Amino acid sequence: MNRTRIAELLRADPSDAPIRLMGWVRTRRGSKRVNFLAVNDGSCLESIQVVVGGDDVPNFDEVQRITTGCAVDVEGRLVASQGKGQSVEVQATAVRVLGWAEGEAYPLQKKGHTLEFLRQIAHLRPRTNTFGAVFRVRNALADAIHRFFQSRGFVWVHTPILTGSDCEGAGEMFHVTTHDLAGGAPYDPASDFFGKPVHLTVSGQLEGELFATALGDIYTFGPTFRAENSNTPRHLAEFWMVEPEMAFCDLAGDMDLAEDFVKAIIRDVLSGCGADLEFLQERYDKELLATLQHIVASSFERITYTEAIRLLAESGESFEYPTEWGHDLQTEHERWLTEQYFQRPVIVCDYPRDIKAFYMRQNEDGKTVAAMDVLFPRIGEIIGGSQREERLDRLQARIRELGIDEKTLWWYLETRRFGTVPHAGFGLGLERCVQFVTGMANIRDVIPFPRTPGSADF
Ligand code: 4AD
Ligand code: MG
Repeated sequence: MNRTRIAELLRADPSDAPIRLMGWVRTRRGSKRVNFLAVNDGSCLESIQVVVGGDDVPNFDEVQRITTGCAVDVEGRLVASQGKGQSVEVQATAVRVLGWAEGEAYPLQKKGHTLEFLRQIAHLRPRTNTFGAVFRVRNALADAIHRFFQSRGFVWVHTPILTGSDCEGAGEMFHVTTHDLAGGAPYDPASDFFGKPVHLTVSGQLEGELFATALGDIYTFGPTFRAENSNTPRHLAEFWMVEPEMAFCDLAGDMDLAEDFVKAIIRDVLSGCGADLEFLQERYDKELLATLQHIVASSFERITYTEAIRLLAESGESFEYPTEWGHDLQTEHERWLTEQYFQRPVIVCDYPRDIKAFYMRQNEDGKTVAAMDVLFPRIGEIIGGSQREERLDRLQARIRELGIDEKTLWWYLETRRFGTVPHAGFGLGLERCVQFVTGMANIRDVIPFPRTPGSADF
């Protein structure tokens, strides 16, 4: 069906040429002689005003029964607007109702709904201004991510979602089976679909490393799954991760790439999603644009974990979690460092080896590994990465020390046997990034259909 998107019409000059648009009615008002429809088609935040004169269409009685949520097909002309609030409007010559919306039964009436309520109607919430804006920004970020890596010659590698290995070693994996476990029979991996236990991936990194040690610079971009029982505004059971991996790269190069990368994608969205960001600022976070501009302009602070612990311990703040060497940094610590102390993003490196995954490169002090986390105000950890242990003997020793079954990682270890090279990478949580850029407080509001403990609707 031939139609012009509303985003395009709103930028066009008035003209006598016939136009046709389709969308969903946000509101209808008017009299017995003329009706005004605000029509939105999702191409942009704004709706376009459609003016329908009683004598201009044969079915004006039908137009008068249009309610919020109806889908319409409109033909007419783009004219200079008589009213305030818009420069152009559509003078209709035909209005066809494609889908009625059952009046009061339609849940998205004009009044503002809470985000909690909208989560319960996640099948309809994309039709609101807020979710239209959030998902256009999410799309722009995804596009910016691909452009960043593609322009630098990184190859996008599609790593598997079904895997037998636990990259992060945290045991937070979803088991995938075709067996009927409800019967109570003991689980027999040998007779299961893959002939062994298989899980949903927690990260594409290990497979990414295999390709980086062949193609040089690669990235993965896809869904990952974690069965951690974290009911927080920053955790999902299913989330998207971007994981670049670079051969011939150390931790310093990894941190440089991470900083360039987040700044570049935020800069792109600032220039491409102005209207959506202004709306989100107005609605949810008065400081949003200033914060984003500040991030793009600032140079990220870089400190070691040991320094971070010292600053936290000497801060005089009363934190809920301990600030002793050896404990992982919690969101409250990450927020203090970024919001109170440095007032900009902070990259913390050289974490204790005992709180990090087996694949990270061991530092010479015997206590820390070449890990780095990029911490952002409000969000805390947005990126986690490391230089990888490329020395076969060190890696094997660590795997044994942690009691990981070496046999399941034979293919990973072979990259260290055959032509091993220093390499490094990181993972950006896409939803944490969208959260930061949109100012949304809860991660459930930046993914179309959130999966969290106890909830997998739609
Ligand atoms: O720090 P993480 O666990 O690192 C990895 O998975 C590495 N394999 C990455 C790599 O080096 N290639 O996760 C990376 C990022 C976090 O910094 C966070 O932004 C996000 O993924 N993340 C989550 N986002 C939403 N919900 C969760 N449950 C998340 N867990 C991690
Ligand atoms: Mg992490």
